[in-house]
Amino acid sequence: MSSHQIPEENLPAEQEAPHGAVRVADEENPFADPGLPPHEPRVQDIDERAAKRSERTVALLFTVSMLATVGFIASFVTIPHDKSIFVFPLGHLNAMNFALGLTLGVALFTIGAGAVHWARTLMSDEEIADERHPIEASPEVRAKVHADFKQGAKESVIGRRKLIRNTMLGALTLVPLSGVVLLRDLGPLPGTKLRHTMWSKGKLLVNMNTNQPIRPSDVVVGSLSFAMPEGMSEHDENFQSEIAKAALMIVRLQPGDIKDKRELEWSHEGIVAYSKICTHVGCPISLYEQQTHHALCPCHQSTFDLSDGARVIFGPAGHALPQLRIGVNDEGYLEALGDFDEPVGPAFWERG
Ligand code: FES
Repeated sequence: MSSHQIPEENLPAEQEAPHGAVRVADEENPFADPGLPPHEPRVQDIDERAAKRSERTVALLFTVSMLATVGFIASFVTIPHDKSIFVFPLGHLNAMNFALGLTLGVALFTIGAGAVHWARTLMSDEEIADERHPIEASPEVRAKVHADFKQGAKESVIGRRKLIRNTMLGALTLVPLSGVVLLRDLGPLPGTKLRHTMWSKGKLLVNMNTNQPIRPSDVVVGSLSFAMPEGMSEHDENFQSEIAKAALMIVRLQPGDIKDKRELEWSHEGIVAYSKICTHVGCPISLYEQQTHHALCPCHQSTFDLSDGARVIFGPAGHALPQLRIGVNDEGYLEALGDFDEPVGPAFWERG
């Protein structure tokens, strides 16, 4: 609504003098303070219907924020973690991440938009010049701050505009719930999951490069190859978490070079299978020196002697690599004779 459509009786009385003194620079005072421009009333200042419309707009924005927060919580609880959706032009996205981001974004944006609209249309926009004064919390200053605060509250019309106040309080109360709900992702505790891998008696050792079961004749002295349990696929939902525990290094030694008695018993014709996961902080071990039988972790140079129970001979790793007991099945393929007899990976287990 423009000012010429507003009923004349609603227009403010002609200001006798402009707000703030306007001075002109002259020879005596070349830096005269020009003062503040006269205050221009907004349509909401002179038309209660426009003010009501603004009030409803602000309340609507705060209400949308409340609904978005409820949507955030509902998305977190109801959408499966692995569900994906197609969103143009972004492509395929995880449905839960998309819903959480969208609803939280709307919840925060509408609180901000509501506050801005409230300030621009309903709160007092009259500029006031305040004189500088010493920074000192005297009783008078405190009394003035208190009075200013009350004046600000009065000018924000929060007392009179109960709809705005209530919806704003509702929006601000609900938004922190988003953070509380996310705490659920701290659980559940792993239980004994980290103590077991997919290896079990009779599981074939499958070459991770060729995806084929391994025969003893495939493993030549001095070579290093990597294996996983049969039945695993990169497309499995849990592939990453399971291969992070089950990955094996396969090395063939001359049986006479094996110094550790148990290692020799758990090997097959000099073929030994050790966890590929470094016992320092869990990097995959990928380097092997065939003359010395040393396996080296590239992350912090922990070095393990594969001819002597994979004990640590250098570096920060806390304990030897776990060995998997292997044999050969009736069809001539290498197979596991059980799971690892200790947890794989970082030395947390020795402390925990
Ligand atoms: S992770 Fe292997 S040495 Fe640090």
